[in-house]
Amino acid sequence: MAERITREDALTREGFRHACHIMLYGDSSAKLFGKIPIKHIVLMQMRFDGLLGFPGGLVSPSKETLEAGLSRELHEEVGVAVPVGVDDHISSCLSQSPSSPRLITHFYIKKMTEPELKEIERAAVTTATDHGLEVMGMVRVPLYFLKNGGGLPYFLSHSFICNSRAQLLSALLHCRLLSQGELEKAVRQAEQMRR
Ligand code: GTP
Ligand code: MN
Ligand code: MN
Ligand code: MN
Ligand code: MN
Ligand code: MN
Repeated sequence: MAERITREDALTREGFRHACHIMLYGDSSAKLFGKIPIKHIVLMQMRFDGLLGFPGGLVSPSKETLEAGLSRELHEEVGVAVPVGVDDHISSCLSQSPSSPRLITHFYIKKMTEPELKEIERAAVTTATDHGLEVMGMVRVPLYFLKNGGGLPYFLSHSFICNSRAQLLSALLHCRLLSQGELEKAVRQAEQMRR
């Protein structure tokens, strides 16, 4: 588990790098196979290293605010400089991942409309400079449960960068996109698949 600190505390720490990532999400009335409501669109990305993660990246607080840096990364990675405010900040963590020591991960959540999210998916392919390079493509998180672990359990059984899997789980709960019980069920089923 990564240690939670406040945004203010994070900015006073010396010798740390800062990474800001965001969950862009919204409601949808679309139905899978014409019958299973997808309920929400939640965007993640397939990274260049084959891991799933959120859009965003390294920010230099000495040169830009965390939120301006995150907007800049969004412009590079999804082709739209989505405005991000301090109000969208959800958590800051001291990363415990051995692969990224002395890193503070800041996480943001922003709710958008379905047309806005679809425009981001389009721009991520057509105008984002990182498309096909640092970002292999945006993906939507399946939030439903199909037979034999299909949907969210299989999604959670993939490999995620740093603490992005924990960020996803806490965000789904925070935004009430899933109940605690549904989340526990998905995590349990995903755990069985990884064995
Ligand atoms: P470059 O500027 O090209 O180096 O990439 P970037 O700025 O886009 O950086 P990246 O998105 O890879 O994030 C920087 C570091 O943050 C990574 O090395 C990971 O350790 C970590 N990281 C990446 N994505 C996520 C994420 O979704 N959540 C969390 N918590 N950490 C992430
Ligand atoms: Mn089909
Ligand atoms: Mn980037
Ligand atoms: Mn990035
Ligand atoms: Mn970067
Ligand atoms: Mn880059």
